[in-house]
Amino acid sequence: MVVLPSAKVLSDQTRIRKMGHVVVLGVFVADTAYRSDRMPQIGETVLGNSFALGPGGKGSNQAVAAGKMGVQVSMISRLGKDDFAQMALDIWEKSGVTAHVTQSSKDYTGAAFIFIDESTGDNAIIISPGAAAKISPADLISQTKLINSADVFVTQLEQPLDAAFKGLEIAKIAGVTTVLNPAPAAKLPDGILKLCDYLTPNEIETEALTGISITTVDDAASAAAVLKEMGVSTPIITLGEKGAYLSGHGLVPAFNVGSVIETTGAGDAFNGSFAAALSEGMTPFSAVQMGCATAGISVTRAGTAPSMPNRVEVNKLIQK
Ligand code: RIB
Repeated sequence: MVVLPSAKVLSDQTRIRKMGHVVVLGVFVADTAYRSDRMPQIGETVLGNSFALGPGGKGSNQAVAAGKMGVQVSMISRLGKDDFAQMALDIWEKSGVTAHVTQSSKDYTGAAFIFIDESTGDNAIIISPGAAAKISPADLISQTKLINSADVFVTQLEQPLDAAFKGLEIAKIAGVTTVLNPAPAAKLPDGILKLCDYLTPNEIETEALTGISITTVDDAASAAAVLKEMGVSTPIITLGEKGAYLSGHGLVPAFNVGSVIETTGAGDAFNGSFAAALSEGMTPFSAVQMGCATAGISVTRAGTAPSMPNRVEVNKLIQK
């Protein structure tokens, strides 16, 4: 009899997997983050406690989060030709993200005003996408070959909606798994939800889409059922410190790893990591778990893109 060495059971996260390819359509902006004890009212000035400038934008943050999981990531966007554009190219290079961008000196690269409540780490944001506001369906058509080569296509709603629609449509036709993170909340055009294999709204975005206010996991279950009726294959509602509600499974609990420094970008950490996991062929449950672990670590650090953990850190947390 041949005695085999004792088999080590590997979790879905640690199994050796194929190199996935995630294509992200989205926006890069420079985040200008102000921490203070409270938001000023209109007409008022308050003294802040600190200021930081760094790379941000939902699409770019998601691409960075996916890149740090070690998969191949391609970013479709538009930039100006200025210092903020260079900031985008630098963070993408550092995170293994390949840029598929149009750059024009006629447009500025966008920026975001981020207020961070010093006591809770919660935020309020104004974003001006600049050059990225000109991303058009034609940009997506010209990237058809790239999108067709992806395992997962992911986008958000910071660039024009018709561009998101076209990207999802191209991906869907090619059988590429589609993820729409409907952030910031917006009224969606007819037909877009049917193009979504996964939709990943937070509580506020879920309420905007379904009219159901989300305070409990049961609320999330009801809203997920409505989103399914609206055409989404698998809704996933992110629930902050509770975790995420995965339709067909239930609550996937959050990983609470320490004191919260800043929640900005936590949704992006979730989406980028989730897309990366799906691109490697992980189950939706394991992919959501990886997204939750990535978000859990990101909130313990300052900044958005700079707060994204790497794969080793995420795997270590999941195995704990
Ligand atoms: O999701 C967080 C991001 O939203 C920030 O980086 C900011 O740029 C806004 O786009």
